[in-house]
Amino acid sequence: MAKYSVNGDIGVIRLSYGALNVLGTPTRTGIRKGLIRAKSDRVQAIVVCGDNGNFSAGADITEFGNKSMEEPLAELLDDIEKTTIPVIAAINGYALGGGFELALACHFRVASTSAVMGFPEVKLGIIPGAGGTQRFPRLVGLDAAMEWVTYGKHYSASDAAKLGAVDRVVPEGSDVFAEAKSFVNTILRKPLITRRARDQVPPDASRAEEIANKYLTVVRQKSRGQHCPVDCIQAVKSAAFGSFEVGMKTEQHILKDSMASGQRKALTYSFFAERTVKKWKVPSTDIDWKNSRAKNIKLGAVVGLGTMGRGMAINFLIAGIPVIVTEMNEKFLESGLKSIRGIIDDMQRRGQITASQNATMKRSVSGTLDYSRLKDVDLVIEAVFEDIRLKTKVFKALDKACKPDAILATNTSAQNVDDLAAVTQRPDKVMGMHFFAPANLMRLLENVYGTKTSAETIATCMDIGKRMRKVTVLVGNCYGFVGNRMYFNYVNEAQYLLEEGASPTEIDKALIDYGFAMGTFQVGDLSGIDIGYRLRMAMGITAKQQPPGAIENRRGGFRYCPLGDYLCEKGRYGLKTNKGWYDYPSGRTPHTSPEVMKIIEDYRQRVGAAGSRVDAQEVLDRMLLCLVNEGFRILNDGIAASPLDIDMVWVHGYAYPKHAGGPMFYAHTIGLPKVLDRIRAIYNRFGDSVPVWQPSEMLVRLVRDHGNPDMSTWMESSTAFLKRPVASNL
Ligand code: NAI
Repeated sequence: MAKYSVNGDIGVIRLSYGALNVLGTPTRTGIRKGLIRAKSDRVQAIVVCGDNGNFSAGADITEFGNKSMEEPLAELLDDIEKTTIPVIAAINGYALGGGFELALACHFRVASTSAVMGFPEVKLGIIPGAGGTQRFPRLVGLDAAMEWVTYGKHYSASDAAKLGAVDRVVPEGSDVFAEAKSFVNTILRKPLITRRARDQVPPDASRAEEIANKYLTVVRQKSRGQHCPVDCIQAVKSAAFGSFEVGMKTEQHILKDSMASGQRKALTYSFFAERTVKKWKVPSTDIDWKNSRAKNIKLGAVVGLGTMGRGMAINFLIAGIPVIVTEMNEKFLESGLKSIRGIIDDMQRRGQITASQNATMKRSVSGTLDYSRLKDVDLVIEAVFEDIRLKTKVFKALDKACKPDAILATNTSAQNVDDLAAVTQRPDKVMGMHFFAPANLMRLLENVYGTKTSAETIATCMDIGKRMRKVTVLVGNCYGFVGNRMYFNYVNEAQYLLEEGASPTEIDKALIDYGFAMGTFQVGDLSGIDIGYRLRMAMGITAKQQPPGAIENRRGGFRYCPLGDYLCEKGRYGLKTNKGWYDYPSGRTPHTSPEVMKIIEDYRQRVGAAGSRVDAQEVLDRMLLCLVNEGFRILNDGIAASPLDIDMVWVHGYAYPKHAGGPMFYAHTIGLPKVLDRIRAIYNRFGDSVPVWQPSEMLVRLVRDHGNPDMSTWMESSTAFLKRPVASNL
């Protein structure tokens, strides 16, 4: 909605639609009515401002794709700009996307120093489509406009003022509307012709090609596989050639294409999924975000300051919670504390925190080797070695040392949360809080509830995730939870593809071309392939621990791929030894390794594997569909509450390309009957030697009962969500 009023001889159009004054149909029609009335009232000037401390956060995303959209924003902004009455935007809070375009169509802009501006559209896979790609470069030049539109970042009012896009910046806390009103007196006699962005030419238009190439080089590297950043560059560049009207035609043409693209749909899906997972629920119970209350955590603790613990301590500090950290001995404690202080200094160097925040953070972290100092903590997260006996010992000690209502959480990658709960006197206050490396940077927190975890404990850990600024997904307890349970299959599948004829480089290339930041073998080298090897050694299943001939004679049994073992036996642990699946002769760039290729070839010969060419489509099918099949099993078991939760785990924890939505969204886009056919074909090929390919019951049931159901109906078929026992539903 937008309300019109007259204040002295000024017409006021006040946006008032939800907390962020989005430009949905009621807002746009309200602005139109205000404009008409202001003209008939013959006011001296019009001030456009917003309620609730915000100008406008932009389009109403729920209207995307709605063909019968009333009062298109681009036409409305055209009429605002063309009006002969001076129009001033009074900006506070958010002026983003369509909201910023509205401000740019006004003739003058007055903004609070705390205002936040920019074009986040690219993050949803679309270009600004109401003249933003045409007005902004005409006001500030192509170079700055390409940066703003293509990167989609937020900027301050003073950033905009430096470029000439804001006329007056007023101190935070001042009444922006009153400031805009007083600004009117200074502009009344200025000719509007010089104030309309449409009448300008970008000052750097003659360098259009050079500037566009500069940004193309960046986005081809940073946003590989994404169309939209390239579209943004093309649209802004077009402002250098021809009239505003011609530029608008180009913008609208590119917008139409980006609106229809699969990437836009996936990015919009991800946008909503990120918000939906906050509304967590425990399947088959009435425990959810609405009916559970979080406890206030005032003091935290972290046990173990290795790779993970350091970043986790930082997360407490980001949430504004003082943290006590502990280690095995004085030396490790000191080194951990030093590293935490180093991360805090880095944050200041990058401009993420101020000097005074740096000092507060450093004051808020303290170290101890004495568990009795943990007696007042409200939440302690354990991050010691992945060894269940050690973790059990630590949990027993924490249970004794911490006050009875403290929550004890583990950062285990896969172990059973219930086993740890069982050794304490407070199983209702035990939780898994699975962060991803580096814990202070990776956005995912996978929160794992056990059989006895209380609603209050879950609510508290979900709330802490939010305070730590994580995408926090609630999942159930099983080996590997959601992310690693799927990841284990993914890594195995890559090795089966090696056996069948693909090389590490070919497999990684197919994944990178799809949009992953890295291929699976590169990731393995980065995190160290010796970790899995040591785990397999402990389980007694590495190649050399198996009876002679067991690997070669694979028929009928479980297919075990020993290639990772062979590499580790040759000291090829990954990047840390400069050789793993790849060679790293200098730095971190992977090079195909002749030694690895020979190990693979010798092995293929020994087991009689075909070693034929495996094309990129086969690689992608196998790598993605093994995730999908396990994803349906996870849904069926009630380990994830919805496919959106699974996708957010993969997008934010495993760098699954956001512009592809996630593995479950992928299944949705290709259609479940096709997914099932393909999975069945692969299963028929390998049989029970690779049991993960047995089609998930839920997937079979969905296709049998619904054909190709929409994602929203998937959960109706989940066994975990059905009231009646499984058998009677089959
Ligand atoms: P790490 O080996 O880097 O660090 C473990 C730390 O715990 C060491 O500094 C060690 O001195 C300390 N420690 C051992 N026993 C202790 C005790 N009794 N009291 C206090 N400190 C003790 O291991 P990392 O990688 O940090 O892993 C920690 C946990 O996080 C494991 O459960 C792991 O599975 C999990 N995790 C690891 C991820 C990774 O990428 N590294 C990702 C997600 C979870």
